[in-house]
Amino acid sequence: MTADSLDTTFDRLTRRAALTGAAALAAPSGAWSQSSPGTVLITGASRGIGLEMAKQYAARGYKVIATAREPGRSEALRALAAARGNVRLEGLDVVNIEQIDALAAELKGTAIDILINNAGISGGSKNQVFGQIKYEVFDPVMHTNVRGPLKMAEAFFDHVAASAQKKLVNISSTEGSIGTLIQRPDVRNYFYRASKAALNMVMVNVAKAVKDKGVIVGIVSPGLVRTDFAEGLNLPIMITAEQSAAACIGIIGNLTMEQSGTFLRHSGGGVPW
Ligand SMILES: NC(=O)c1ccc[n+]([C@@H]2O[C@H](COP(=O)([O-])OP(=O)(O)OC[C@H]3O[C@@H](n4cnc5c(N)ncnc54)[C@H](OP(=O)(O)O)[C@@H]3O)[C@@H](O)[C@H]2O)c1
Repeated sequence: MTADSLDTTFDRLTRRAALTGAAALAAPSGAWSQSSPGTVLITGASRGIGLEMAKQYAARGYKVIATAREPGRSEALRALAAARGNVRLEGLDVVNIEQIDALAAELKGTAIDILINNAGISGGSKNQVFGQIKYEVFDPVMHTNVRGPLKMAEAFFDHVAASAQKKLVNISSTEGSIGTLIQRPDVRNYFYRASKAALNMVMVNVAKAVKDKGVIVGIVSPGLVRTDFAEGLNLPIMITAEQSAAACIGIIGNLTMEQSGTFLRHSGGGVPW
């Protein structure tokens, strides 16, 4: 795709954002037309691990399509896009199927080397205490953590398949590992844990479905990370979002077709299902 066609695409995206109430905030500059190691699209890039991955991929020269529910509200994301011509911001709520389809349509013809399904919610640990479960939390958790990534995989399949790297990556969690949790005494986050186990199952299916097209499906646990997500938890084994993003980027960089549909730890090695 040429710089001109990217600019035209951007104009359409800005119109789409106005229509959907989402925001496309950063215009592509000349940096989009420069050679790069590839294009990466990240969901949930407003903060936490997603923001850090956007920063680090941008620093490596990737063209970064950083999506967030409300990119305009993330000062850090706005600052990143202002500082780097290779970062484009797009409004995208992964619960909103129409928004996913609209962004995929607007980016038709753009090869996406690495699509990262990062957006996720826990549903809140206080809402998932046995005996006092808040059932209204189930749908948002499953829609965000399972339906969203599957719809992203479908909608952006052609974009990924047309790229050089062909990687469709999902940020999962050891919280979704039955093999790990059966050994542990802690009980929490029923819906969240179920959602990550379901995400894993869905993506094993996708890996099989897309194998003959050469698309690699990554399922990566990012470690225990000090972000808003951790609800103030502070344990010695926790790592920063910067460390987690760097580790995940390393795993993603080395992903092979043999690893497609397997569950990988940020620090290397596999996670039991
Ligand atoms: N932190 C950990 O210890 C840990 C461990 C294992 C796995 N993970 C996984 O890592 C991923 C990132 O987590 P994090 O720690 O970076 O959490 P975080 O700091 O809470 O960030 C979550 C991100 O997801 C976005 N998001 C939530 N719902 C969304 C939706 N419907 N559409 C689009 N974006 C949405 C948030 O956007 P807004 O700003 O709009 O809310 C935010 O950018 C999640 O999938 C999480 O399950 C985290």
